[in-house]
Amino acid sequence: MNAYISSLGHYVPEKRVSNDELAKTLDTSDEWIRSHTGIGNRHVSSDQETTAYMGYKAAQEALDKRGIGAEEIDMILVSTITADYHEMPGTSCLIQDLLGNSICGAMDIKAACSGFVYGLELGKGLINNGTASKILVIGTERLSRVLNWKDRNNCILFGDGAGAVLLEKGEGSPRGIINSILRAEGSGFDALSHPRGGTSNPFIEGEIVGTDHYLDMDGRRVYNFAVRANTVILKDLMEKNGLTVDEVDWIVPHQANRRIIEAAAKRDKIPLEKFYLNMEEFANTSGASIPLALADMEKKGLLKEGQKILTVGFGAGLTYGGNYIIW
Ligand code: UT7
Repeated sequence: MNAYISSLGHYVPEKRVSNDELAKTLDTSDEWIRSHTGIGNRHVSSDQETTAYMGYKAAQEALDKRGIGAEEIDMILVSTITADYHEMPGTSCLIQDLLGNSICGAMDIKAACSGFVYGLELGKGLINNGTASKILVIGTERLSRVLNWKDRNNCILFGDGAGAVLLEKGEGSPRGIINSILRAEGSGFDALSHPRGGTSNPFIEGEIVGTDHYLDMDGRRVYNFAVRANTVILKDLMEKNGLTVDEVDWIVPHQANRRIIEAAAKRDKIPLEKFYLNMEEFANTSGASIPLALADMEKKGLLKEGQKILTVGFGAGLTYGGNYIIW
C-alpha cells in the first residue's frame, strides 16, 4: 500500500508578462523566445506574493479540495530555490505558520528543479514507514526576485508560482507513488548557481551590490545535461517498472524548455503528445513546475484514476530524477 496523491492545489500571481512585453525593455523578441524555449508568458509576483504566501495558497487549495484542516497535516516538505529568507528559516516553517498548524514537521528540500520529485519520494517514505499519515509536498518559487532583468540569456526563461499535493496513506488500491529514481551529478555544481551570498563567497559589509548575486547559468551546458537526464530517467523508470512507452499515459516533465523535451522525446522514441507541457503559459517555475503542471492537468480533466504517470525533473546541483505514479 503506497502513499498516494489525494488532492492538488496551485497558485500563480495575477500579473502576467508576455514575451512582447519583455521585448520592450530587452533586446529579444517573441519569435526568438518561442522558437528557442516554447515559452510565451510568465507570471510575476507582487510585493505581497512571497514564496511562502504562494506555497500556502497552493497548499490551502489542496486541503480545501480534500475537505480537511491544516491541523491534520503531520509534515510539510517544500521544494524551493527562492526561499523568503537566506538559508534560514526554511520556507516550510513560514508556510506552516500561515496554514495555522503549530506542531507538524516542516523541512525545505534543496534539490532545485528536481526538488518536487525528491519530495514525493521522501514523503512516500515517511508515510510508508509510519512516521506520518498526511503530508503536504509543495513546490513554490519566486524566481522573478533572483533574476537579472537586463540579462536576456536568463530572465526570459523563468516565472513565479506554486503547486502542492496532499500525500496520504494508501487504502489498498493500486494507486500511489510506486517508486522513484533520484540522482545527482555534483561535478556540474557551477553550471547553475547563485554565486554570491553563501559562506564560500559571502557579501562583505559596505560593498556595493553588483549582479553576481543573481541566478547564473551556463545555458548550453544545462541544456545538454537536461536532454541527457530526461532520456536516462525515462528509460530507467520504464525499465525498472517493466513499462512500455504505450503503457505510459502521461509524462510530466519539469517545464524548463520545450526544445529539451522534444530532443529527449526523439532520443527515447516517445511521442511528444505523451508529455504534458505548459511552459507556454508559466515558463520555468523550477521546483513548482511539476506540481503546477499536475494541478493544471487536473483542472483540464486529464487525470483519471489508474493512469500510469512518469515525472522527470532536472536542475541545479546538478540533480535529476523521476517518479512512477499510478494515479
Ligand atoms: O531548470 C533548468 C533551467 N535551465 C534551462 O532550461 C536552460 C537550458 N538551456 C537552454 O534552454 C538554452 O541554452 C537557452 C534557451 C538558454 C539558449 O538557447 P541557445 O540555442 O543555447 O542559444 P545560445 O546561448 O547559444 O545563444 C545563441 C544566440 C546568441 O547570440 P550570438 O552570440 O550568436 O550573436 C545569444 O546572445 O542567441 C542570443 N540570445 C538571445 N537572442 C534574443 C540569447 N538569449 C537571447 C534572447 N533573445 N532572449
